[in-house]
Amino acid sequence: MKKILLFVLAFVVLIQLIRPNKNQEVVDAKKQIGAVIEVPADVQAILKRSCNDCHSNQTNYLWYHEIAPMSWMVARHIKEGKEHVNFDEFASYNQRQRAHILEETAEVIQHGEMPLKGYVVFHPETALSKSDIEKIKSWASTAGTKTVVAKNTYPATQEDCDKEGKMPEEGCEKKGKSCCKSGF
Ligand code: HEC
Repeated sequence: MKKILLFVLAFVVLIQLIRPNKNQEVVDAKKQIGAVIEVPADVQAILKRSCNDCHSNQTNYLWYHEIAPMSWMVARHIKEGKEHVNFDEFASYNQRQRAHILEETAEVIQHGEMPLKGYVVFHPETALSKSDIEKIKSWASTAGTKTVVAKNTYPATQEDCDKEGKMPEEGCEKKGKSCCKSGF
């Protein structure tokens, strides 16, 4: 019995040697979501409180997050979460990705999929209230259309249309559709 206990103890100590890198990078305000779309302060506060541990470059670690195997689980959630959405790198997504992420955000919140349930058990303060859900949903759906519209909105410039090999269409106000027409 004593041998088994010692073995378990040694194992628990040994696994501590495998330490995942921490998610604490320098944050560049120019790349954050607020740099490219409007994020009202109350929405920002909800994202920070309930989402940013897994969807930003700055996780707020608690002491037991440092202990394996908890540290491994935390690192995996952060890695996977950031692969899907990183609010601190939002500016580097293209328009389509931005719109998609905002759409998904409204959806996962509506369905209660985020923040992850296992995480909320340990962080009850991150649970979203009904009003949090409404705020995020309405922001995500309007900001979502805004980013898409911003790309093609009238007046389209020659530069916008060059990318499509077209030219700007005068007087075009087709919101959300291209205001570039085929040349000549
Ligand atoms: C404990 C970590 C964690 C927290 C906190 C968290 N997420 Fe996630 N999120 C993940 C992981 C892991 C994935 C990818 C796997 C999955 O879809 O379950 C993900 C995926 C997503 C996706 C992509 C879904 C898809 O189907 O492509 C969105 C959008 C998202 N999260 C939004 C949020 C928002 C908004 C919050 C805050 C309200 C939040 N998450 C909080 C870990 C987290």
